[in-house]
Amino acid sequence: MDPMLNIAVRAARSAGRIAMRFFERTDAVKVSSKGQHDFVSEVDRACEAAIIHELRSKYPSHAILAEESGATGDGDFQWIIDPLDGTTNYLHGFPQFSISIGLRYRGRLDQAVVYDPLREELFTASHGGGALLNDRRIRVSNRKSIEGALVGTGIPFRDQSQLDVYLKMLGAMVRDTAGIRRPGSAALDFAYVAAGRLDGFWELQLSPWDFAAGALLVTEAGGTVSDLAGGDRYFETLNVVAGGLRVHQGMLTRLRPFLSDDLRA
Ligand code: IPD
Ligand code: CA
Ligand code: CA
Repeated sequence: MDPMLNIAVRAARSAGRIAMRFFERTDAVKVSSKGQHDFVSEVDRACEAAIIHELRSKYPSHAILAEESGATGDGDFQWIIDPLDGTTNYLHGFPQFSISIGLRYRGRLDQAVVYDPLREELFTASHGGGALLNDRRIRVSNRKSIEGALVGTGIPFRDQSQLDVYLKMLGAMVRDTAGIRRPGSAALDFAYVAAGRLDGFWELQLSPWDFAAGALLVTEAGGTVSDLAGGDRYFETLNVVAGGLRVHQGMLTRLRPFLSDDLRA
């Protein structure tokens, strides 16, 4: 395993231990509000501190972009960290959350870890090296069209400025697919696309830490990741569509009629 991926796995596992320690008694976890429908708990912060401690001890000069503590440093290597993806689920005891750590080298995704500590599922990828689930190779599904596809998504719940257009997109997807799932951890949604459990996924207004690791998992598993217009600017637009080639194409076609100028850009 790549040494940098190895450290990222170690960091994700130590955050996973913290998340699991508190999961049985989340009612005692201290929570504060970051904004409307946006909560951060002491578990998010403790997980992030553990991850950063692990990464920094080995790579003190690397830059970090972490959800709770922001951006530090610069240079060719940047770690992008979501210490607990699915906080709302976690705080409700809903068993779907993950830890996501991605590494970019000169802007290109290079290493990825998404860890589900509840199921002990570790999804990893290295650029050019394929994607793995607990050391077994994974591939996106080879579904030939959107008909019959199981598609994941995220419903806007903080910033609702795109809610109306999102609901139109959802309507089109519901009509043409086998079903839509909203599990509540975007990083795991990408991992599930990589593993072929979901045929596709889309969400608007994500943050880089929601998809940095997940996007590499999907592409290394043979899938496609794009912005809503089919381009590669999703780190800028923060709107992301992912899936196997055909399903991805089908999703773009279904979403296209609803793209306003700002969503297309
Ligand atoms: C959220 C989850 C959720 C997605 C949101 C994210 P958080 O991350 O990934 O599935 O719909 O857009 O913000 O806040 O739990 O880390
Ligand atoms: Ca997140
Ligand atoms: Ca988070």
